[in-house]
Amino acid sequence: MAKSAVKTIGVLTSGGDSPAMNAAIRAVVRTAVDRGLKVKGIRKGYNGLLNGEIVDMGKYSVSDTISRGGTILFTARCEEFKTLEGQQKGAEACREAGIDGLVVIGGDGSFQGAKRLAEQGINTVAMPGTIDLDIACTDYTIGFDTAVNTAMEAIDKIRDTSTSHERVSIIEVMGRGAGYIALWCGIATGAEDILIPERYDGNQPKLEQRLIDNILKNRAKGKVHHLIVNAEGIGHSYGMAKRIEAATGIETRATILGYMQRGGNPTAKDRVYASMMGAYAVDLLVAGKSNRVVGYKHGEFCDFDITEALDMKKDIPERDIEVATLLGK
Ligand code: ADP
Ligand code: F6P
Repeated sequence: MAKSAVKTIGVLTSGGDSPAMNAAIRAVVRTAVDRGLKVKGIRKGYNGLLNGEIVDMGKYSVSDTISRGGTILFTARCEEFKTLEGQQKGAEACREAGIDGLVVIGGDGSFQGAKRLAEQGINTVAMPGTIDLDIACTDYTIGFDTAVNTAMEAIDKIRDTSTSHERVSIIEVMGRGAGYIALWCGIATGAEDILIPERYDGNQPKLEQRLIDNILKNRAKGKVHHLIVNAEGIGHSYGMAKRIEAATGIETRATILGYMQRGGNPTAKDRVYASMMGAYAVDLLVAGKSNRVVGYKHGEFCDFDITEALDMKKDIPERDIEVATLLGK
């Protein structure tokens, strides 16, 4: 095997956690050990880097973690790291700990931090860890599959009771700026309406009138329930439920699923993809690459320059929305 460009790899998780971050950490640690490298775990994201919360990780320090949600390294947000001084301090902390290659697992905010560290001379590779699927350079993000399955199971349960009572149900799923979870859950549960921020113009009365018309039309056709999957980015689920009930005379309930979507045992897909990405990230560092982000496109794992990846744009395909709408009619 060719000589590795790095000797000690650091790994951290940053921003919102997501299921299978542990599978990603495990893959980074074990691949690095296999390549003859040392591994240091940095706890609590960039905060831990600035505060020296750095621990040695061996092959067996990640035993029994592949099936666990959350992140054994903890995660955090760190305002100081957005400043040049914070980034210089972070690079210095890496050098002091002997870390010459760093794997950052997080969302696009965390990628910004990784890019800044690369500018400070630390080899960095980022991995997309977010349940929101809102990273443009990749068709897959670590944790999305688990979050969608968790929300889908919850919505299936709500559908049962909603049908029994012939009610309208609004279920709010996560996604502050992205409707992927809502769209996938909506299609997977046969929702009558799916509300996503990407197609919301901010006109709440217009949106609610469309829902009311749809509910009444479906009732007239004999549908006994009406599921509305609403993305967090639109929100207002409780208020909407009240107004819809007043306008239609049909009992309407809202449920906000919340943080349960970020936890739980990862699905097989998340475990496997996170593992593949973790190994890929280490091999990029071994090959001397820096400022890269690992992605999954057209059925293959791949990598991009972080700066280019951050400039890419992503939108929900119109076709997905068309199909979701026609199937929910
Ligand atoms: P996510 O990674 O899930 O998108 P955030 O946007 O909260 O989450 O970012 C996580 C952390 O990444 C921030 O708390 C900060 O430490 C770091 N970060 C975000 N933006 C920048 C930036 N522009 N420059 C340097 N670091 C950043
Ligand atoms: O992880 C992404 C996400 O779940 C978004 O959908 C949500 O808006 C955000 O995190 C909330 O995270 P926090 O409350 O931890 O800031």
